[in-house]
Amino acid sequence: MEFENIVVLNSNNICHITINRPKQLNALNAKTIFELNVAINQAQEDSSVRAIILTGSGNKAFVAGADIKEFAHFSAREGEELARNGQKLLFDLIDNLNIPCIAAVNGFALGGGLELAMSCHIRIASDNSKLGLPEVTLGVIPGYGGTQRLTNLVGKGKALEMIVTASMLSAHEALQWGLVNHVCAQEDLLILAKKIANKIIRNSPMAISKAIKSVNASFNKSLDGFEVEKKEFGSCFESKDFIEGTSAFMQKRKPNF
Ligand code: CAA
Repeated sequence: MEFENIVVLNSNNICHITINRPKQLNALNAKTIFELNVAINQAQEDSSVRAIILTGSGNKAFVAGADIKEFAHFSAREGEELARNGQKLLFDLIDNLNIPCIAAVNGFALGGGLELAMSCHIRIASDNSKLGLPEVTLGVIPGYGGTQRLTNLVGKGKALEMIVTASMLSAHEALQWGLVNHVCAQEDLLILAKKIANKIIRNSPMAISKAIKSVNASFNKSLDGFEVEKKEFGSCFESKDFIEGTSAFMQKRKPNF
C-alpha cells in the first residue's frame, strides 16, 4: 500500500515510521491513523522486524495532537466513536505489540501526540520537545488513552496537574517526571533510538514479546500480573530461543536468535 501521510523504511531489522504532515505539525487525522495501523500491522507480521522507531517529520513536532479541524463539528456519538476507533486502531495496537516500539519525540507531543508516545514501550525526547495534554483548553478531555496511560506513568497527582492545568513540560521536566527515559540533542535523537533498538534486536524476540505481555498485565485490572508472568515464564522453556540462549551461555558464545 502507498502511504500519503507516513513514511516507512525497514533497515537492519528496524522499522522506521515517520509521521509526515509537517505543515499540520503531524496532527493525527483519520487517514494517518489508518495508515499507521496498516504499517504497524505489517511490521508485526514481518519476522525480520525486531523493533519499531516512531517519529515525526520536521524539527518542530512529533505530533501536535488529534486533528482538531477534523473533529470540531462532531456530535457526542461521533466523538465517542473517534476515541473508540482511534484507541483500537492505533494506541492499543502499539501498546500490545509483540515487538518494542520506541517513540523518538522530536518536538511538540501534545494531546493525541503525547498519547501516541505513551502507548509506545520506550520514549526518548530531543531537548526542544514540549509534552502536554492541552485538551481541556478545547473543552474536551484526552480521548486516546491519555487519562489512563499518563496516570500509570507519572501517578495520579502529576497526571491531574498536567491535564487540568494543560501545562506543557519541557523535555528535561518530562525526564524528571519519568515520562521519557532519555533526553538528547535533536540531531542525536534517531542515533539514540537506533542504539536502543540495536540492543533490543540482539535478544530473543520470543522472550521480548512475553516480557511486554507480562508488564502490560500489571495495568490490566482483570488480570493477575504475577500469574501471567508465571505462565509466560514457563512457556519460554523448551522453546527454540530458550535452547539457543541457554546453550550459547554454556558454550561461552553469543546467542543467535
Ligand atoms: N490539529 C490540526 N491542525 C493542527 C494541530 C492539531 N492538533 N496542531 C497544529 N495544527 C496546524 C495549525 O492549525 C497550523 O495550520 P495552518 O497553518 O493551516 O493554520 C499549523 O499546524 C501550524 O500550527 P501553528 O501555526 O499553531 O504553530 P505554532 O508554532 O504557532 O503553535 C502549537 C504550535 C502550540 C503546537 C499549536 O499549533 C497548538 O496549540 N496546536 C494544538 C495542540 C492541541 O491542542 N492538541 C490537542 C488536540 S485534541 C486531542 O488530541 C484530542 C484527543 O486526545 C483525542
